Amino acid sequence: MESFDIAVIGAGAAGMMCAAVAGQGGARVVLVDHAPRLAEKIRISGGGRCNFTNLQAGPANYLSANPHFCRSALARYTPRDFLALLKAHRIAWHEKHRGQLFCDHSSESIIDLLKAECDTGRVAWRRPVAVQGVRRDEGASFVLDTNAGEIAVRSLVIATGGLSIPKIGATDFAYRIAKQFGHKLVDMRPALVPLTFTSDAWAPFSALAGVSLEVEVAAGRKGGQGSFVEDLLFTHRGLSGPGILQISSYWQSAEPIVIDLLPGRDAAAELLEAKSSGTKRQIGNLLAQWLPARLAHAWLEARGVSIEARLADLPDKALRGLGEAFSRWTLTPSGTEGYRKAEVTKGGVDTRELSSTTMMSARMPGLYFIGEAVDVTGWLGGYNFQWAWASGVAAGQAAVEFARSARSA
Ligand code: FDA
Repeated sequence: MESFDIAVIGAGAAGMMCAAVAGQGGARVVLVDHAPRLAEKIRISGGGRCNFTNLQAGPANYLSANPHFCRSALARYTPRDFLALLKAHRIAWHEKHRGQLFCDHSSESIIDLLKAECDTGRVAWRRPVAVQGVRRDEGASFVLDTNAGEIAVRSLVIATGGLSIPKIGATDFAYRIAKQFGHKLVDMRPALVPLTFTSDAWAPFSALAGVSLEVEVAAGRKGGQGSFVEDLLFTHRGLSGPGILQISSYWQSAEPIVIDLLPGRDAAAELLEAKSSGTKRQIGNLLAQWLPARLAHAWLEARGVSIEARLADLPDKALRGLGEAFSRWTLTPSGTEGYRKAEVTKGGVDTRELSSTTMMSARMPGLYFIGEAVDVTGWLGGYNFQWAWASGVAAGQAAVEFARSARSA
């Protein structure tokens, strides 16, 4: 049987970072992944340019049943640390907006960087290799049963990610291992995902597919805790775009979302003001200055108001109602596009049974969970990769120490 100090299962963002740190820390590390192509999620991320971090990343940008859990790892490995790595590998990058950093050229360069860092740490690659199961042996080692034979290790890091995009290799492996070792899971569901509506409810809007605009969107009738000013995109089945992906992580099934189509404007007051100015303008014409014309016109039609109606001829009540409908468009999604389209999985391994400094299980010494597999879900905008890097580094450093003390015991 082969033996190593540490096995990392899952050669994605978190797993490669963890393996590189552990290998460079002096441990003998094996990195196992079942996918035929390396780090496919990094490759397709950020539209092929990988939004690899966000300068503003902090605990407030993450959802978790245990909101403070991510604080320590994020503070110890920051976006600046990752930028230092990029500099060493001469990878050019730029800031898009709101602290979101992307590669100038291709996300492949991030994969190459991580691979090179693993090679520097003399990490042994086992891929494509599937892990059928994990057991503890009498010598307090973990034994991995793989389709390339058994591997015994002192420390085991689970970095197999979440359930999104099964067609590129996502599995529930992390959750199965967590349960096997007595861990609780926080309910999993697709997040950073487009929202859908029943075909009846969406019929009046389906012709707007392709229209996009900046909105303020909030979850729950009262707005709840999540609220974002970002772009929204109408699709044939519902709503997408960054604003909707963000709010999807906060949205609860059967709850409404509230959209202000004219953020920063008191639409009702401005419509009444325009009327009282004595203007001869048509309502459709005025609204098309504030909103995409297709959207403005569809809205008026749905409310039985002619686009050619003059403001002066519309009752105040109708104008106030129209303004309020733009400012508080309240609608209840019937669901989401699911894991097929979700960028991440919300929920996962319950962090209340993990150490926030090392990511080690409180139930099974030597077992670690990192990256998207755990119940830490970042906003859209580079936050999920920053969590992958930070949790990977924390576990990589800790696993080296654990393996060292296990060896000398
Ligand atoms: P990740 O999913 O990266 O890696 C898990 C690895 O485990 C995979 O290589 C998989 O093959 C392997 N694996 C799974 N089951 C296994 C098993 N049973 N045995 C062996 N191996 C197994 N985030 C961000 O911050 N910026 C961005 O631009 C984007 N863009 C983006 C676009 C799209 C389309 C998606 C789907 C997602 C994003 N994300 C993102 C999210 C980001 O990709 C995600 O949060 C990280 O990749 C999570 O890193 P992990 O290492 O935890 O899992």
